[in-house]
This record gives sequence, C-alpha cells and structure tokens, in this order.
Amino acid sequence: MAKLKFGLIGCGAIATRNHVPGMEKVKANASITAMYDIVPEKAKELAKKFGMKPKFCKSEQELFDAVDAVIIATPNSCHYPQTIRALKAGKHVLVEKPMSYTPEQADEMIDLAEKNGLILQVNQSFRYIPLYVGLRQLIQDGLLGDVLTFRSQRAGMQAPNKGWSPGADWFVDPKFEGSLVGDIAVHMADLMQWMLNSPAKRVLGITRTREHKVEDNVNALLDFENGATGFLELSWTYPTSWWSIEIYGTKGSLKSIDGGFAFIPAGSTTATKLYSAESFPAHPNSQEVFVDSILNGGNQNWMAGRQAIALVTAIRDSNASGKGEVPRNRVEKKAAPKKAAPKKAAVKKAAPAKKTVAKKAAAPAKKTVAKKAAAPVKKAVAKKAAAPAKKAPAKKTAAKKK
Ligand SMILES: NC(=O)c1ccc[n+]([C@@H]2O[C@H](COP(=O)([O-])OP(=O)(O)OC[C@H]3O[C@@H](n4cnc5c(N)ncnc54)[C@H](O)[C@@H]3O)[C@@H](O)[C@H]2O)c1
Repeated sequence: MAKLKFGLIGCGAIATRNHVPGMEKVKANASITAMYDIVPEKAKELAKKFGMKPKFCKSEQELFDAVDAVIIATPNSCHYPQTIRALKAGKHVLVEKPMSYTPEQADEMIDLAEKNGLILQVNQSFRYIPLYVGLRQLIQDGLLGDVLTFRSQRAGMQAPNKGWSPGADWFVDPKFEGSLVGDIAVHMADLMQWMLNSPAKRVLGITRTREHKVEDNVNALLDFENGATGFLELSWTYPTSWWSIEIYGTKGSLKSIDGGFAFIPAGSTTATKLYSAESFPAHPNSQEVFVDSILNGGNQNWMAGRQAIALVTAIRDSNASGKGEVPRNRVEKKAAPKKAAPKKAAVKKAAPAKKTVAKKAAAPAKKTVAKKAAAPVKKAVAKKAAAPAKKAPAKKTAAKKK
C-alpha cells in the first residue's frame, strides 16, 4: 500500500527539531520523500542527520510534482506565497506559524484550500502539547472557577538568530517579516485565547524596536469574551531571561513552576497539586493531526493559525493607532466549509490519531470563531492519546525555547 508522500520546503531549525522527528509518529502512513531548500546543503545535512534518502529537489515545482502534501518551514515571508503555490499545485499544506502577515492573506489561503478540497493546517505547536491540552481541559472543567486573568511573560536576552537558529538573520529582518510579534506573540497570545476557550474581543498592544529593525518587545492587554483579562509581556532584549504563565480564577490559580504548573486553591498560599508533562496523556502531534485529516477528512485545520493572525494583527494595529483594536477573526461565508475529500484506497488506514481527536485539537472553532470558541470542549480530547508532542513546553522549552 502506498504511503502519503510528503515534501519538506525549508530544512532549518524547526524542520530538524519538530517536523522530521514528528513524522516518525505517522511513518505507517506518510513519509518525507522530497526536500527543497534554497541552500541545498541544508537539505542534505538534515537528511544525513536522520538517515533519510529523499529526492533533493532544485525547485518548489519539482517537489510539488513528486509529492501529495508539503510542509512549509521557511522564513515567515515565504509562508503565504509558498502555501498559495502549493495549494494551486493541488497539495495539502502544513505551514509553519505565522501562517501569513495579514488576516486577508490568511483568508486567501483558506479560501483556496477549501475551494480545492485540500487540508491547510498551521503549526501552532503549543496547541498539541499534552501539558497545555491537559491544563486547558482542567480549566474548562472548572478547576479555576471563572478565570479572571491570564498573564504570560516570556522575556529573553536575544533574538532567535543568536540562539535558536544561529545565523538565521531573517528573524530580525523586516523583509522576511521577522519580529517578536510573528515569532512568539503568535504563540503566546493564541495560547491564552485557546486555553480560555474564549476569543479576545479587544486588544491594546504596545511594541518597541529597541535593538533590531523589527519589533523586539511586545506588551499587550487582552479583553476576552468570557470576561477574563490577559497580560502579555515578551522581549528579546531584557537583561535576563524569564518565562512564566499565571492564570487566576475565582477558585484558585495555576502558576508555571519547574517546567510544570502548580495549583494554589483560593485563600491559600501553598500549592496543593503539581502538574507536569507526565500528568497528562499523550496527544496527537501536529503531523499526526495533519495526516489523519488528509486520510479521513479535515475540518478547519487552519483555525488555530487564523485566530493567531487576528490577534497579532490587532496588537500591531493597536500600537499604530494608540487605541484598542478588535481582532479581525475570519468571517465565515454562509455555506458550510467544504471538507477535504478522504484520500482514497492505496493508503493504509491505520491513522494513529482518531478523527474526532484530531479535529478537536486543531480546530476548536466551528462556524464562527467567536461562537465555538466559547463552547466547552469534550474531556475526550485531553484523554485520547497517540503520541507525545514535539517541542515540549515543559522544563526545557519553557526555559529556553528559541
Ligand atoms: N511552531 C513552532 O513552534 C516554531 C518554532 C520555531 C520556528 N518556527 C517557524 O518555522 C519557520 C522556520 O524557522 P526556523 O527556525 O526553522 O528557521 P531557519 O532559518 O533555521 O530555517 C529556515 C530554512 O528555510 C530555508 N529557506 C529560506 N528561504 C527559502 C525558500 N524561499 N525556499 C526554500 N527554503 C528556504 C533556509 O535556507 C533555512 O534552511 C519560521 O516561520 C518560524 O516562525 C515555528
């Protein structure tokens, strides 16, 4: 039985640390059979590191002609045009975050995917991390009561071109849409609204370009539909590094500690429960969800990426206007979105992630972002297991991710 053939475009740090290892979980049904990088040695190095023997392509088109689906792991400014070209070539796409620079570009990508019956998924990787999936479920189940405030701080001393991917100067180059907004705000602001299961209805953002030509400091105040507030504080230029998440509710608080989270009940000063990555079952990773959706039919796999773009655009717009801005979430047309046709025959049906799990994980929203985001999520999502997620949030990632 033929497996799905995947093409990898961009063979740098995230391909090495996330996509290639993540594909291991779906090896029964899919594998990377072609690679393309504008620096051909990067593709060769990556293949050598993992003992792979892909076709090394000299162009995107050569890669498109050889595969069923593509993973796009290139600098930010490439995501929109490369996704459009891949979708036009009839390929399913798993694209890195940020999916685009503007909500309008993102909508164009989504419209094209839906028109062509193709899966378009964005690697908002935090949404697949078991620790966050599990904590989100506990919050939905009422652990904290009504959430009052979600505070997220991620302050580093350097941009990713100095640490995460040394020499990748596009991270701080406006030409490539580099910036802390597209790099980390797109993760952390999205994590807030996803964990609260409530979209932000208003955002006040302040950004600074202190040591780079792009935003390297981001502060935002978020007003969520469920009444919670959010504080986001990010930096590439602080003199020391710090990473923390604190979520306060009427019944207690969750605070990040030692790579996990402590629960402190209301009225107490001491934690009564510690949650670590091991406290929760495994969860399908991004690649598993993507493959499952190709095989069994996907449902708005782009949602996480699209919601994140609405938020970071509101942060940028607010900084420019000096006023609070309403995130421009996707407005669905009346007709229900087309589902991608299940891949026929010839492919083993042993998809590791169950359809329902995959859908819930990747697309918490249904018809309109606002409506479904406020709906409770089934417990089953956190419990269904298939695989550990990549880029662990816990200790190490929390402390030093890029
Ligand atoms: N989901 C996550 O948690 C996460 C984490 C880190 C990075 N990312 C995202 O992944 C993307 C890549 O980041 P990275 O850290 O791997 O960067 P990187 O610089 O290490 O790798 C990018 C690779 O793309 C190649 N490339 C550049 N332009 C290309 C083009 N037009 N066609 C083909 N290849 C091209 C480069 O040669 C390089 O090998 C970024 O958009 C970043 O935001 C996501």
